[in-house]
Amino acid sequence: MKKLLIWGAGDQGTVTLDCALAMNTYDSIAFLSFAERGAREIPNYIIYREQDVELHTFLPSFDEVIVATGDNALREQKVSMLNALGIPLVTIIHPTAYISPFAQVSAGCTVLAFAVVHINASVGTGCIVNTGAIVEHDCVLGDFVNVCPKVSMAGHTTVGKKAFLGIGCTIINNLSVGEEAVIGAGAVVIRDVPAHEVVAGVPAKRIQS
Ligand SMILES: CC(C)(COP(=O)(O)OP(=O)(O)OC[C@H]1O[C@@H](n2cnc3c(N)ncnc32)[C@H](O)[C@@H]1OP(=O)(O)O)[C@@H](O)C(=O)NCCC(=O)NCCS
Repeated sequence: MKKLLIWGAGDQGTVTLDCALAMNTYDSIAFLSFAERGAREIPNYIIYREQDVELHTFLPSFDEVIVATGDNALREQKVSMLNALGIPLVTIIHPTAYISPFAQVSAGCTVLAFAVVHINASVGTGCIVNTGAIVEHDCVLGDFVNVCPKVSMAGHTTVGKKAFLGIGCTIINNLSVGEEAVIGAGAVVIRDVPAHEVVAGVPAKRIQS
Protein backbone atom coordinates (compact mmCIF):
# COMPACT_ATOMS: atom_id res chain seq x y z
CA MET A 1 0.00 0.00 0.00
CA LYS A 2 1.31 3.43 -0.92
CA LYS A 3 1.00 7.18 -0.41
CA LEU A 4 -0.31 9.02 -3.48
CA LEU A 5 -0.06 12.73 -4.13
CA ILE A 6 -2.49 14.19 -6.68
CA TRP A 7 -0.88 17.39 -7.98
CA GLY A 8 -3.94 19.41 -8.93
CA ALA A 9 -6.90 20.08 -6.68
CA GLY A 10 -9.54 21.05 -9.23
CA ASP A 11 -12.06 19.02 -11.21
CA GLN A 12 -9.47 16.75 -12.80
CA GLY A 13 -8.04 16.22 -9.31
CA THR A 14 -11.36 14.95 -8.01
CA VAL A 15 -11.92 12.48 -10.87
CA THR A 16 -8.36 11.29 -10.38
CA LEU A 17 -9.17 10.75 -6.69
CA ASP A 18 -12.19 8.65 -7.64
CA CYS A 19 -10.00 6.59 -9.96
CA ALA A 20 -7.26 6.13 -7.36
CA LEU A 21 -9.80 5.01 -4.75
CA ALA A 22 -11.27 2.45 -7.18
CA MET A 23 -7.77 1.06 -7.77
CA ASN A 24 -7.59 0.16 -4.06
CA THR A 25 -3.82 0.51 -4.17
CA TYR A 26 -3.25 3.54 -1.96
CA ASP A 27 -3.72 3.77 1.78
CA SER A 28 -3.19 7.50 1.83
CA ILE A 29 -4.03 10.18 -0.74
CA ALA A 30 -3.37 13.92 -0.48
CA PHE A 31 -3.57 16.87 -2.88
CA LEU A 32 -1.19 19.62 -3.86
CA SER A 33 -2.88 22.64 -5.43
CA PHE A 34 -1.18 24.48 -8.29
CA ALA A 35 0.44 27.82 -7.57
CA GLU A 36 -1.26 29.03 -10.77
CA ARG A 37 -4.78 27.90 -9.81
CA GLY A 38 -7.18 27.83 -6.89
CA ALA A 39 -8.26 24.62 -5.24
CA ARG A 40 -11.82 23.40 -4.83
CA GLU A 41 -13.22 21.91 -1.62
CA ILE A 42 -12.35 18.24 -1.36
CA PRO A 43 -13.83 17.05 1.96
CA ASN A 44 -11.78 14.61 4.04
CA TYR A 45 -8.54 15.19 2.10
CA ILE A 46 -5.58 17.37 2.92
CA ILE A 47 -4.79 19.96 0.25
CA TYR A 48 -1.25 21.32 0.44
CA ARG A 49 -0.45 24.48 -1.50
CA GLU A 50 2.42 24.51 -3.97
CA GLN A 51 3.51 27.94 -2.74
CA ASP A 52 3.81 26.63 0.87
CA VAL A 53 6.09 23.63 0.25
CA GLU A 54 9.63 22.95 -0.89
CA LEU A 55 8.92 20.75 -3.88
CA HIS A 56 12.30 18.98 -3.85
CA THR A 57 11.70 17.64 -0.34
CA PHE A 58 7.91 17.51 -0.36
CA LEU A 59 7.32 15.50 -3.54
CA PRO A 60 9.70 12.62 -2.67
CA SER A 61 7.84 12.12 0.63
CA PHE A 62 5.09 10.42 -1.41
CA ASP A 63 5.44 7.03 -3.09
CA GLU A 64 3.68 8.21 -6.23
CA VAL A 65 2.73 11.55 -7.76
CA ILE A 66 0.21 12.09 -10.57
CA VAL A 67 -0.37 15.47 -12.21
CA ALA A 68 -4.11 16.14 -12.56
CA THR A 69 -5.23 19.02 -14.75
CA GLY A 70 -7.06 19.14 -18.06
CA ASP A 71 -4.81 22.05 -19.09
CA ASN A 72 -2.30 20.33 -21.37
CA ALA A 73 0.39 23.00 -21.10
CA LEU A 74 0.18 23.12 -17.29
CA ARG A 75 0.28 19.31 -17.10
CA GLU A 76 3.38 19.28 -19.30
CA GLN A 77 5.02 21.93 -17.13
CA LYS A 78 4.43 20.00 -13.88
CA VAL A 79 5.53 16.70 -15.41
CA SER A 80 8.75 18.43 -16.53
CA MET A 81 9.27 19.55 -12.94
CA LEU A 82 8.83 15.95 -11.74
CA ASN A 83 11.33 14.80 -14.35
CA ALA A 84 13.81 17.50 -13.31
CA LEU A 85 13.54 16.32 -9.69
CA GLY A 86 14.03 12.69 -10.74
CA ILE A 87 10.59 11.66 -9.51
CA PRO A 88 9.28 8.72 -11.54
CA LEU A 89 5.98 9.22 -13.37
CA VAL A 90 3.14 6.88 -12.56
CA THR A 91 0.09 5.89 -14.53
CA ILE A 92 -3.39 5.83 -13.00
CA ILE A 93 -5.82 3.43 -14.67
CA HIS A 94 -9.38 2.84 -13.45
CA PRO A 95 -10.14 -0.87 -12.98
CA THR A 96 -13.11 -0.66 -15.39
CA ALA A 97 -10.96 0.75 -18.22
CA TYR A 98 -9.92 -1.74 -20.89
CA ILE A 99 -6.33 -1.46 -22.04
CA SER A 100 -5.46 -4.05 -24.65
CA PRO A 101 -2.38 -6.07 -23.71
CA PHE A 102 -1.08 -4.99 -27.13
CA ALA A 103 -1.58 -1.28 -26.46
CA GLN A 104 0.90 1.05 -24.82
CA VAL A 105 0.00 3.67 -22.22
CA SER A 106 2.99 5.81 -21.26
CA ALA A 107 4.01 7.13 -17.87
CA GLY A 108 2.10 9.99 -16.30
CA CYS A 109 -1.20 9.11 -17.99
CA THR A 110 -4.63 8.92 -16.38
CA VAL A 111 -7.17 6.54 -17.91
CA LEU A 112 -10.61 6.92 -16.36
CA ALA A 113 -13.64 4.67 -15.91
CA PHE A 114 -14.90 2.69 -18.92
CA ALA A 115 -12.30 4.10 -21.28
CA VAL A 116 -10.86 1.79 -23.94
CA VAL A 117 -7.38 1.82 -25.42
CA HIS A 118 -7.49 -0.87 -28.07
CA ILE A 119 -5.00 -3.17 -29.73
CA ASN A 120 -1.80 -1.58 -31.07
CA ALA A 121 -2.84 1.89 -29.87
CA SER A 122 -0.19 4.02 -28.22
CA VAL A 123 -0.78 6.84 -25.73
CA GLY A 124 2.06 9.29 -25.07
CA THR A 125 3.38 10.66 -21.80
CA GLY A 126 1.06 12.60 -19.51
CA CYS A 127 -2.16 12.09 -21.49
CA ILE A 128 -5.68 11.95 -20.10
CA VAL A 129 -8.08 9.39 -21.55
CA ASN A 130 -11.27 10.48 -19.86
CA THR A 131 -14.45 8.64 -18.87
CA GLY A 132 -15.84 6.36 -21.55
CA ALA A 133 -13.46 7.55 -24.28
CA ILE A 134 -12.47 5.08 -26.99
CA VAL A 135 -9.00 5.14 -28.49
CA GLU A 136 -9.40 2.49 -31.16
CA HIS A 137 -6.86 0.12 -32.61
CA ASP A 138 -3.62 1.54 -33.99
CA CYS A 139 -4.28 5.13 -32.90
CA VAL A 140 -1.22 7.08 -31.82
CA LEU A 141 -1.51 9.91 -29.28
CA GLY A 142 1.40 12.27 -28.74
CA ASP A 143 2.37 13.53 -25.30
CA PHE A 144 -0.01 15.56 -23.09
CA VAL A 145 -3.11 15.02 -25.21
CA ASN A 146 -6.47 15.47 -23.43
CA VAL A 147 -9.11 13.03 -24.67
CA CYS A 148 -12.34 14.24 -23.06
CA PRO A 149 -15.22 12.00 -21.95
CA LYS A 150 -17.02 9.94 -24.63
CA VAL A 151 -14.61 10.81 -27.42
CA SER A 152 -14.61 8.13 -30.14
CA MET A 153 -11.47 7.76 -32.19
CA ALA A 154 -11.58 5.25 -35.01
CA GLY A 155 -8.54 3.21 -35.96
CA HIS A 156 -5.17 4.45 -37.24
CA THR A 157 -5.70 8.09 -36.31
CA THR A 158 -2.71 10.09 -35.11
CA VAL A 159 -2.99 12.97 -32.65
CA GLY A 160 -0.20 15.49 -32.09
CA LYS A 161 1.22 16.67 -28.81
CA LYS A 162 -1.06 18.69 -26.51
CA ALA A 163 -4.12 18.37 -28.75
CA PHE A 164 -7.50 18.73 -27.01
CA LEU A 165 -10.31 16.42 -28.12
CA GLY A 166 -13.53 17.94 -26.74
CA ILE A 167 -16.25 15.96 -25.07
CA GLY A 168 -18.12 13.53 -27.28
CA CYS A 169 -16.27 14.26 -30.50
CA THR A 170 -15.88 11.56 -33.13
CA ILE A 171 -12.83 11.23 -35.35
CA ILE A 172 -12.99 8.83 -38.28
CA ASN A 173 -10.18 6.46 -39.14
CA ASN A 174 -6.80 7.21 -40.72
CA LEU A 175 -6.78 10.94 -39.92
CA SER A 176 -4.13 13.18 -38.47
CA VAL A 177 -4.89 15.80 -35.81
CA GLY A 178 -2.01 18.23 -35.42
CA GLU A 179 -0.20 19.44 -32.33
CA GLU A 180 -2.25 21.66 -30.02
CA ALA A 181 -5.29 21.37 -32.28
CA VAL A 182 -8.64 21.76 -30.49
CA ILE A 183 -11.66 19.67 -31.47
CA GLY A 184 -14.95 21.14 -30.24
CA ALA A 185 -17.49 19.24 -28.17
CA GLY A 186 -19.58 16.89 -30.30
CA ALA A 187 -17.65 17.53 -33.50
CA VAL A 188 -17.41 14.88 -36.20
CA VAL A 189 -13.94 15.08 -37.74
CA ILE A 190 -13.75 13.69 -41.28
CA ARG A 191 -10.61 15.48 -42.54
CA ASP A 192 -7.10 16.02 -41.17
CA VAL A 193 -6.86 18.90 -38.69
CA PRO A 194 -3.70 21.05 -38.97
CA ALA A 195 -1.64 21.91 -35.89
CA HIS A 196 -3.10 24.66 -33.67
CA GLU A 197 -6.40 24.74 -35.55
CA VAL A 198 -9.73 24.89 -33.67
CA VAL A 199 -12.54 22.95 -35.37
CA ALA A 200 -16.15 22.27 -34.37
CA GLY A 201 -19.45 21.10 -35.82
CA VAL A 202 -20.70 18.25 -37.98
CA PRO A 203 -18.75 17.83 -40.13
CA ALA A 204 -16.02 19.68 -38.24
CA LYS A 205 -14.86 22.97 -39.75
CA ARG A 206 -12.34 25.54 -38.64
CA ILE A 207 -13.78 28.15 -36.29
CA GLN A 208 -10.49 29.91 -35.45
CA SER A 209 -6.76 29.16 -35.42
C1 LIG B 1 -14.55 24.55 -29.65
C2 LIG B 1 -14.42 25.43 -28.41
C3 LIG B 1 -13.04 25.19 -27.78
C4 LIG B 1 -14.50 26.86 -28.93
O1 LIG B 1 -14.46 27.72 -27.86
P1 LIG B 1 -14.34 29.31 -28.16
O2 LIG B 1 -13.08 29.59 -28.91
O3 LIG B 1 -14.54 30.01 -26.85
O4 LIG B 1 -15.50 29.58 -29.21
P2 LIG B 1 -16.85 30.41 -29.03
O5 LIG B 1 -17.65 29.90 -27.88
O6 LIG B 1 -16.48 31.86 -29.06
O7 LIG B 1 -17.61 30.03 -30.36
C5 LIG B 1 -17.17 30.47 -31.62
C6 LIG B 1 -18.19 29.96 -32.65
O8 LIG B 1 -18.06 28.54 -32.76
C7 LIG B 1 -19.31 27.90 -32.41
N1 LIG B 1 -18.97 26.72 -31.59
C8 LIG B 1 -18.21 26.70 -30.48
N2 LIG B 1 -18.11 25.44 -30.02
C9 LIG B 1 -18.83 24.67 -30.84
C10 LIG B 1 -19.10 23.29 -30.86
N3 LIG B 1 -18.57 22.46 -29.95
N4 LIG B 1 -19.85 22.81 -31.85
C11 LIG B 1 -20.39 23.64 -32.80
N5 LIG B 1 -20.15 24.98 -32.82
C12 LIG B 1 -19.38 25.48 -31.84
C13 LIG B 1 -20.09 28.95 -31.59
O9 LIG B 1 -21.47 28.72 -31.70
C14 LIG B 1 -19.64 30.22 -32.26
O10 LIG B 1 -20.34 30.36 -33.47
P3 LIG B 1 -20.89 31.82 -33.96
O11 LIG B 1 -19.63 32.65 -34.14
O12 LIG B 1 -21.60 31.50 -35.24
O13 LIG B 1 -21.75 32.31 -32.87
C15 LIG B 1 -15.50 25.13 -27.34
O14 LIG B 1 -16.76 25.63 -27.71
C16 LIG B 1 -15.66 23.64 -27.07
O15 LIG B 1 -16.40 22.91 -27.74
N6 LIG B 1 -14.91 23.20 -26.03
C17 LIG B 1 -14.94 21.81 -25.59
C18 LIG B 1 -15.06 21.78 -24.09
C19 LIG B 1 -15.05 20.39 -23.56
O16 LIG B 1 -15.09 19.40 -24.28
N7 LIG B 1 -14.96 20.28 -22.27
C20 LIG B 1 -14.90 18.99 -21.62
C21 LIG B 1 -14.03 19.06 -20.42
S1 LIG B 1 -13.86 17.45 -19.72
